[in-house]
Amino acid sequence: EKGGYDYFMLKEIAEQPKAVADTLLGRIDAAGSLTLDEVRISPSELREVDKVVIVACGTAFHAGMIAKYAIEHWTRIPCEVELASEFRYRDPILDGRSLVIAISQSGETMDTLMALRHAREQGSKVLAICNTNGSTIPRESDAVLYTHAGPEVAVASTKAFLTQLVACYLVALYLGQVRGTKWGDEIRAVIRDLSQISGEVERVLETMEPVRSLARSLATKNTVLFLGRHVGYPVALEGALKLKELAYMHAEGFAAGELKHGPIALIEEDLPVVVVVPSPRGRSVIHDKIVSNIQEIRARGARTIVIAEEGDEAVVPYADHLIRIPATPTLLQPLVASVPLQVFACELATARGNEVDQPRNLAKSVTVE
Ligand code: F6R
Repeated sequence: EKGGYDYFMLKEIAEQPKAVADTLLGRIDAAGSLTLDEVRISPSELREVDKVVIVACGTAFHAGMIAKYAIEHWTRIPCEVELASEFRYRDPILDGRSLVIAISQSGETMDTLMALRHAREQGSKVLAICNTNGSTIPRESDAVLYTHAGPEVAVASTKAFLTQLVACYLVALYLGQVRGTKWGDEIRAVIRDLSQISGEVERVLETMEPVRSLARSLATKNTVLFLGRHVGYPVALEGALKLKELAYMHAEGFAAGELKHGPIALIEEDLPVVVVVPSPRGRSVIHDKIVSNIQEIRARGARTIVIAEEGDEAVVPYADHLIRIPATPTLLQPLVASVPLQVFACELATARGNEVDQPRNLAKSVTVE
């Protein structure tokens, strides 16, 4: 049952440190290398892959967008991410050297299933990342990497998303390890950081009270915007999706660099804008650019809600509300940055009197196209 929580969603948010740890369990050996033998695609086949294509829907699609950054960086294999519902209708270019990754919590999403069937008809190998043992998507795939989130009951995906990210990182790092790219040292370091990340997720969860009170104070707003860059961009999209489905508010995510190409026209006095700030250590150029984006929107009256790494002082003067997250390697930041956005959406939904676990018009798994 709900284990003392008012909603399954709250319980599932709280279970994330365990879900993340369980998804890593047995997949990192004593020497700090990945052992993904369970993925029955041989290292020699993986060395032949010349393109990765990820198909998924909704939240799982956002995990796929983040995976693209990781896969291309660590493996140098071109990677495309596509909404499963669009994929087969545009006659995608696939062959025996394409690796298709289908991400699905339920394993029953019809759009994703049809996309993977199409990929297999073109001779591509399909790897499923899935949370549900024996469901249709892994059964129809060549291989599967299970996420170990445990059953997710709330309609809005939370812990499954974090474990999808972990699985995507594992695949990206494993591909890098098998193919021996120039990032060997970085890959080993990131595997070490990944094995610590569940504790960081736990730390984020312990500091969520200010996020809850901020959310309650925004209950009568009509619109919230979300901005991010690099892997923070899909995080912004995911934050907006959570708010739409739970709070029934107009919420939109943008790549922060696109702001000046149109969306900045939306900024008006007191409009809440959530900004996911990348680490100032990793790709510091992006960091500086996003700080100036925050400055720009604040100058136009936006109420800035800034999610930034501990120790990032550059954002302080421009943040009306500052949400701190632990420092992580750049590519892993979504694992900690997504959590406050889940809490934010859940609390806003509650404050607006919505049914958190069963949002209107939605079903947990979408088995029609
Ligand atoms: C959002 C949400 C949906 C699902 C999407 C894919 O919170 O739950 O967007 O992520 O319907 O579902 P699965 O992962 O089961 O294929």
